[in-house]
Amino acid sequence: MLLIDRRGRRYMITLSPGGQSDLRGGKIGHDELLGRDAGGTVRSTRGERFLVVRPTLAEFVLEMPRGAQVIYPKDLGAILMLADVFPGARVLEAGTGSGALTMTLLRAVGPEGRVASYEVRDDFARVAERNIQRYLGSPPGLVLRRHDVYDGILPDDRPLDRIILDLPEPWRVVPSAAEALAPGGIFLAYVPTILQGMQTVDALRASGSFALLETLEVLMRPWNVDGRSVRPAHRMVAHTAFLIVGRRVQRGAAPAAIEVPADAEPPDESGEAPEDPEA
Ligand SMILES: C[S@@+](CC[C@H](N)C(=O)[O-])C[C@H]1O[C@@H](n2cnc3c(N)ncnc32)[C@H](O)[C@@H]1O
Repeated sequence: MLLIDRRGRRYMITLSPGGQSDLRGGKIGHDELLGRDAGGTVRSTRGERFLVVRPTLAEFVLEMPRGAQVIYPKDLGAILMLADVFPGARVLEAGTGSGALTMTLLRAVGPEGRVASYEVRDDFARVAERNIQRYLGSPPGLVLRRHDVYDGILPDDRPLDRIILDLPEPWRVVPSAAEALAPGGIFLAYVPTILQGMQTVDALRASGSFALLETLEVLMRPWNVDGRSVRPAHRMVAHTAFLIVGRRVQRGAAPAAIEVPADAEPPDESGEAPEDPEA
């Protein structure tokens, strides 16, 4: 559960029968919270009140223990749309890191889908495993492997609908991704620097097996809405990483022209009906 004090500070605790948590100098008995509806409040033995809610996945990701740096929720949401992760999809992810993206993918593919996640570091893999277990239990479609994805994609994990990479050299995975992805499958890499992004785009282009390449980043600016103080927040998470996306096509069906140019006419997102040329 997520307990939030009157200043908005957050404390994530895992409830157990008979257990208790020390919060800001007071104690909270877990039995008082177990079986109760979320959305109420609880008082510590020091008299301090806390709002009690179940953490959303975005909240859990930001509060959970980390081995490696996690992907922020603003990017996790975009990844699901850009890679079009659908219920039942067969997805490969590398590296597992702290498990933030793994959990996001597992929820999107659902019980019929499969997420194979590769990680080279035992310590990170253990942190991820605990985080996933704590938030999702034992999802049926999860396969965690200690494997270096630069050595290739394992036969047991093929074919794949989607490949999503958050590691330093995603371009090294392009040749095996081209083999492992089903036709029309999507490759997505998440990289903190644009030089990594360029190298990935170059590798996708050079392979001849990918089209509809896109490079973008997601900026999210929260606002403060409080009485007449209606303004952007002073702080925001600005740069996190670049997203590089490509679609697996038949070799040779990917001339440079079949890409999404960054300066293409933007899609109409106004929600208004398009003008009728006959009117
Ligand atoms: C930034 S972290 C991933 C964080 C993860 N996406 C999350 O949201 O929690 C990058 C991870 O990739 C792993 N890694 C690096 N190279 C790898 C490789 N060749 N194969 C598999 N995992 C690799 C690192 O050990 C690290 O845990």
